[in-house]
Amino acid sequence: MSPIGGTMNLGVTVIRSRHSVRKYKDSPVEDKIVKDALDCARLAPTARNEQPWLFGTVQKRETLQAIADLTENARFIADAPLCFAIFGKRDAKYYLEDCCAATMQLLLALQAWGVGSCWVAGEKKDYAEDVRVLLNVPEEYTLVSLVPAGYPEEIQIAKKKILDEVVFFERYEEEG
Ligand SMILES: Cc1cc2nc3c(=O)[nH]c(=O)nc-3n(C[C@H](O)[C@H](O)[C@H](O)COP(=O)(O)O)c2cc1C
Repeated sequence: MSPIGGTMNLGVTVIRSRHSVRKYKDSPVEDKIVKDALDCARLAPTARNEQPWLFGTVQKRETLQAIADLTENARFIADAPLCFAIFGKRDAKYYLEDCCAATMQLLLALQAWGVGSCWVAGEKKDYAEDVRVLLNVPEEYTLVSLVPAGYPEEIQIAKKKILDEVVFFERYEEEG
């Protein structure tokens, strides 16, 4: 529920409705939606406007299975119709922030089209290098995130901290 009550706004409605989706319908995601989501990702802000990234998409079942086998907590990639892989240029100082911003734009663009997805860890995982090699991505890039996607079969709603618990105004004060 929005802090501003019943006021409707399409942008924030998309943001509020996004949840990680890990079970997908078999139906493929249309190419024009995939392209539009990628296009939204590349519009994300980046430090010095460097845009230090590469966006891959994988739809071949055997490649999805191979990625799933490499991951620790994302075996469900094997059954997704599609998986995006976001790579950052290692020598760009802020590649991690930049690629996280792009990942978030990708998630939200997919959500706006009714496509569910899940951010899957990349950069800090041992499998980052294996995924790079599997997808034949040049060594100057490193995996930042994987984003399996598809029309939702099942949606789980994660519990979130309430706003009052995580905000402060002007200056942080200890309670009590
Ligand atoms: C950096 C990052 C890494 C994540 N890695 C995984 C993962 O490896 N496997 C997975 O199932 N979910 C992963 N998630 C999704 C989180 O579990 C999920 O965002 C969180 O539980 C909150 O749920 P929500 O996305 O529905 O709000 C990751 C999310 C982020 C931001």
